[in-house]
Amino acid sequence: VPAAQFQVRVVRNETLSGGYFRLWLRADDPSPVADARPGQFVMLRGDWGRDLINGRAFSVLDAPDAERFTVLAKVFGRGTARLAAAAAGEPLTCTGPLGHGFPAPGKERRQLLVAGGVGLPPLHLQARVAAAAGLADRVEVLYGGRNADDLVLVDEIEREGVSVALASEDGSLGTRGRVTVLLEDRLARPGEDVEVLACGPTPMLAAVRKLGLGARAPTYLCLEEQMACGFGVCLGCAVPVFGPKPYRYCCTDGPVFEAAEVRWP
Ligand SMILES: Cc1cc2nc3c(=O)[nH]c(=O)nc-3n(C[C@H](O)[C@H](O)[C@H](O)COP(=O)(O)OP(=O)(O)OC[C@H]3O[C@@H](n4cnc5c(N)ncnc54)[C@H](O)[C@@H]3O)c2cc1C
Ligand code: FES
Repeated sequence: VPAAQFQVRVVRNETLSGGYFRLWLRADDPSPVADARPGQFVMLRGDWGRDLINGRAFSVLDAPDAERFTVLAKVFGRGTARLAAAAAGEPLTCTGPLGHGFPAPGKERRQLLVAGGVGLPPLHLQARVAAAAGLADRVEVLYGGRNADDLVLVDEIEREGVSVALASEDGSLGTRGRVTVLLEDRLARPGEDVEVLACGPTPMLAAVRKLGLGARAPTYLCLEEQMACGFGVCLGCAVPVFGPKPYRYCCTDGPVFEAAEVRWP
């Protein structure tokens, strides 16, 4: 395993709106997750018996100190249902941090951080990293969900001095429509070099890819392929790409890929 594997305990399982929950996790010793870059992820696995032996991938949401970190999740299937029910004190095995993250924020280009639903964590962390580096005004979050309940932790990003534009499909918060409506509008604004960093469901990322490439903005996508191992052994997370090889692997080559490299229609 080309990454640290260690035990953590659930310190707190915080229920948020829209079926989201945030797990506060603590390792006994300082863990490498403290240095995770936005977009890097961990594989988490509980003692769930033989029918649930694979870990599940979660982006690092935050690492407030050397021992503690958090993930944000939503119930999808059996593994996330088990995690949603995890009580304080429950032990989990953690492998990570894994993969490669987003490009760091900088002064050269403003970064548009485009989050859809449960794709928020790496952009949330990117916003906080930018703020910590004195670059809060060099990033903007564009965040979309189904409805107001689906848009979580917005106040935490705004508290860092980072601007957040919201979209909901039912119009209950922010602009009515998908997050790509916000992105299209933002990319149409002339006179500024921007790059696009996005994470969310695959159809959203496909739309962001088209908009980013169409605007000739460097665009980076954090993909959420199904993963069994998380570190390059099962070959189950192949991503079609342009280049000498037809596929790269989401866990070891990604999960962040340049949009121009991804071979989607
Ligand atoms: C890099 C990355 C970051 C992610 N970050 C987050 C996050 O921050 N928050 C969040 O809520 N979700 C995140 N996800 C999605 C999350 O990993 C899935 O929702 C979760 O794996 C679903 O697990 P489940 O047991 O609930 O669902 P199930 O559908 O019961 O099981 C999914 C699991 O089945 C296995 N599996 C199924 N199909 C395949 C296949 N074709 N190839 C290989 N294995 C397969 C894998 O072990 C997979 O994890 C992320 C995914 C990736 C890849
Ligand atoms: S998840 Fe096993 S190779 Fe990527």
